[in-house]
Amino acid sequence: MIRLEHVNFAYHEEPVLRDVSFTVAPGETKVILGTSGSGKSTILKIILGLVTPSSGRVMINGLDVTTAREKDLRALRKKIGMVFQGGALFDSMTVAENIGYYLLEYTDQPLSEIEQTAREILRYLELSEDLLDVLPDELSGGMQRRVAIGRAIAAENPSIMLYDEPTTGLDPISTQKITELIVKLQQEKGVSSIVVTHQITDAFDISDRFLVVHEGRVVFDGNAQELLDCRDGYVCEFLRPYLDSVKALPLKTGQ
Ligand SMILES: Nc1ncnc2c1ncn2[C@@H]1O[C@H](COP(=O)(O)OP(=O)(O)OP(=O)(O)O)[C@@H](O)[C@H]1O
Ligand SMILES: [Mg+2]
Repeated sequence: MIRLEHVNFAYHEEPVLRDVSFTVAPGETKVILGTSGSGKSTILKIILGLVTPSSGRVMINGLDVTTAREKDLRALRKKIGMVFQGGALFDSMTVAENIGYYLLEYTDQPLSEIEQTAREILRYLELSEDLLDVLPDELSGGMQRRVAIGRAIAAENPSIMLYDEPTTGLDPISTQKITELIVKLQQEKGVSSIVVTHQITDAFDISDRFLVVHEGRVVFDGNAQELLDCRDGYVCEFLRPYLDSVKALPLKTGQ
């Protein structure tokens, strides 16, 4: 489904990703952990074909995005729901227009149908339909993130979801709602997902598959138990502040 093979990438000669390889199987959720600047968002941009690696292969749904034509890339992107870092909604558009953005922009669907889709999605997000005509700045941070996920799933029933720090800056209850939504999308719609996060404790609620990146390299790729056993010096150091709270949590298995 998603496979990166020996991907290298640099901004202005400065290496950002170094020999990055990993796979996300169909229906699997992979959590990417790493400190600020380690290259996490860049990995998502590479998967979307927004930036091109200097070497390596990136296979998404059988298409090599590093060599694909723009037309094929566009078709592929429709199958990928992206929730950008910060959740960025369009401030001057209502919730309904935000959720229906891709339908308004790229399809000929009549407004009444788009509004119906927006209603269904609000229900799926467990948000009130009364929010349809509300502007984003009237919503709480947690609601805005859920609407951003709604916008990502509205377009074409995506088979891949990419989330860039979907819970950063949210309170524990809003965070839990987002993690539940991510798990629900995986379980009910069978999407493959990548979730970039700084919040290790939430990561364990989301999945059992982890990737840790450090200075553009993959320093860990494995399951929760292997992560907690941390054999790599950097991974242990990274985890240490969190270990006590994480070890108290029941681990997800078999995902
Ligand atoms: N447009 C750009 N031009 C130049 N350098 C960039 C650009 N975007 C990112 N970088 C650099 O690439 C590196 C990786 O950035 P990236 O955004 O992938 O990190 P990240 O792991 O997502 O960080 P964060 O957790 O802060 O979001 C950083 O050193 C960053 O400064
Ligand atoms: Mg980032």
